[in-house]
Amino acid sequence: MKRLGILLSGRGSNFEAIADNVAAGILRAEIAIVISNRPEAPGLAAARRRSLPAICIPSKGLDRTIYDAMLSEELKKHAVDLVCLAGYMRLLSAGFIREFPGRVLNIHPSLLPSFPGLDAQHQALDHGVKVTGCTVHFVDEYLDSGPILVQAAVPVLDDDTVESLSARILKEEHRIYSEAIRMAIGGALRIEGRRVLSGA
Ligand code: GRF
Repeated sequence: MKRLGILLSGRGSNFEAIADNVAAGILRAEIAIVISNRPEAPGLAAARRRSLPAICIPSKGLDRTIYDAMLSEELKKHAVDLVCLAGYMRLLSAGFIREFPGRVLNIHPSLLPSFPGLDAQHQALDHGVKVTGCTVHFVDEYLDSGPILVQAAVPVLDDDTVESLSARILKEEHRIYSEAIRMAIGGALRIEGRRVLSGA
């Protein structure tokens, strides 16, 4: 069984959706460790409620290289095969990415490459797009970059607020993250340039 390491900073609803699918046997993987960089993250408490191995490594005031080395050590200690960023609000250093080549995933609430960075749903509303969505991608050293595994689109409605649009996107996030993890641990992916192709 492949071992997942989850990194989060906040609410943790994507982590919970993954954990639900693991618990239900829909996603054949094991959550080896949940790591939060913030002690107050609700996602950390949720992991503990589920009796999953969960720790906080506070990032406040720490240099990125030093912090990422601590992260990497912890993930390796738990023999993690795939690292899943689930609302992890820090950029990872190039050194960290090199330690886990092609083995770090992120989820972002827009159809990348549109609206990278913070407040993607707000950016989409401001821009006036009629369709937005979410993206699961491999992580490289840049922000919300890296080859795309799965995307899902949702409509933007005339009366949408950031909250209503975020909720519509989040429902799809919860669905596609597990789908992307299944693909990533399935071992049949090929990456050609920026394209992630399924099947040998
Ligand atoms: C999600 O919208 C995700 O796409 C983004 O941060 C948010 C995290 O939400 N990267 P949650 O902590 O998983 O509930």
